Amino acid sequence: MRFPDDVPVLTDDVVTLRAHTEADIDPAYLMCQDPEMQRWTTIPVPYRREHAVSFLTEIIPTGWRNGGMWAWAIEYDGQYAGTIDLRDGEGGVGEVGFALAPEVRDAGVMTRALKLVVRYAFDVLGWDRVIWRAFVGNWGSRRVAWKAGFRGLVVVPGGGKARGVRYDEWVATVGKDGALEPQGNWWPVTVLEGNGLRLRPFRPADAERIVEACNDERTHYWLAGLPSPYTLEDAKTFMEGRQEPRAIGEGVSWAVADLATDELLGCVSVFGMNHRLDKTVGEIGYWMHPGARGRKVMSTAVGLIIDHAFTPVAEGGLGRRRLVLFAADGNSASAHVAEVNGFTRFGTERAASARRDGSYVDHLGFDLLASERD
Ligand SMILES: CC(C)(COP(=O)(O)OP(=O)(O)OC[C@H]1O[C@@H](n2cnc3c(N)ncnc32)[C@H](O)[C@@H]1OP(=O)(O)O)[C@@H](O)C(=O)NCCC(=O)NCCS
Repeated sequence: MRFPDDVPVLTDDVVTLRAHTEADIDPAYLMCQDPEMQRWTTIPVPYRREHAVSFLTEIIPTGWRNGGMWAWAIEYDGQYAGTIDLRDGEGGVGEVGFALAPEVRDAGVMTRALKLVVRYAFDVLGWDRVIWRAFVGNWGSRRVAWKAGFRGLVVVPGGGKARGVRYDEWVATVGKDGALEPQGNWWPVTVLEGNGLRLRPFRPADAERIVEACNDERTHYWLAGLPSPYTLEDAKTFMEGRQEPRAIGEGVSWAVADLATDELLGCVSVFGMNHRLDKTVGEIGYWMHPGARGRKVMSTAVGLIIDHAFTPVAEGGLGRRRLVLFAADGNSASAHVAEVNGFTRFGTERAASARRDGSYVDHLGFDLLASERD
C-alpha cells in the first residue's frame, strides 16, 4: 500500500481515524510524556522528540507499505488525540495496541476507535481474531477492551515486557463473529444515600478505618479468614481487590460512610452473582467498624442494598431475583440484620463457618425474594 494515499479513513462521525502527518509529531511526543503512557506501554523512557519522529515518519509508513502494521492517527474534536494500530495478522490473527492523550480520556474515544479498527481487521484484512494485551492493573485499557466486546480474559504471569522488565499481562480476544459489545456485567459502585448514610466506592483515606475494623476482636472472631494482624498493606490490597469481582460481574462492595462526615463505618457487598447455575442470585456480606456498631447502621445499609439489588439492570440496579445472607450460629447481631430486613430463615448449613481455632460452627441461612419486597 502507498503511504499516506492508501490509508483508509475510518469514522463513526465522532472519532476519525486517518493517516498520520508531520503535524502529529509534537502532540504524539507530548502524549508520550504522560506517566500513564510510560507505565502501561512499551515506549522508550525517557521519550524524546526523535522517537516520535521515527515512529510517525518511518515505522508507521513502513508498516503500511510492507504490511504487518496498520496504524492510524485518532482525530477527535478536530485534533490529533492518539494512535491505534493493528499488528501481525499472520494466520488470520493479530494484535491491537492504542494510546490516547490524557486530556481526552474517559470520553469513550478509544472504545470508538477500537471498534473501528477491529471491524477493519475482520472486514478488510480478513482476520479471524484480534488479540488485546495489557499489563495487569491497566484498568482503563481493560475497560475499553470489555466495552468493545473482547472476552475470555486470562492472566499470563510474566507475559508482558517493557524496557527489559517482565510484567503479568491480561489477554483477551474477539473473533470475527463476536459482537463488539460488552459480554457480561461490569458492576458500577452506584452511590446510594439514605437515613444518614452514604454507600460509595472505597477511597485511599479509608485505609486506617479498615485496619481498625479488621483488627477488632469481634470482626476477627466471625471473619476468621482475615489476615491477623491486619495491616495498612492488607487494607490497600483489599481496596484494590474490589475491582476484579466488579469487572467479571461477580460482586460489588460499598464503603458504608456517614452522610455528614463521610467517615467510613463499614463495608457491605453483594457477591456470588456469577453463580454457575443461577445468575439471578446474590449473597450479602458485611462488616462494621466497632465504633459504629449498635446504631442500626448495617441494618439501614442492607436496606439500601436490597432495593438496589432488586432494581433491574436496565434501571441501574443489580437485577437480582433472590438474595441470600448467612450468619454464623451465635452471631446474633448479624442474624438481626437479616431479620429486620425481612429475610426468611430457610435452614442451616452444618459446620460451614471456620473459626481460628480450627473448629467449625453452623451457618444460619436467610433469603429474600424480589417478589416479597414491596
Ligand atoms: C487506556 C486508554 C487508551 C483509554 O482511552 P479512553 O479514550 O479514555 O477510553 P474510553 O473513554 O473509551 O474508556 C475508558 C473507560 O475506562 C474507565 N477507566 C479509566 N481509568 C480507570 C481505572 N483506573 N479503573 C477503572 N476504570 C477506569 C473509564 O471510566 C472509561 O469507562 P466508562 O466509559 O464506562 O466510564 C487511555 O487511558 C490511555 O491512553 N492510557 C495510556 C496508554 C495505555 O494504557 N494504552 C493501552 C495499553 S494496553
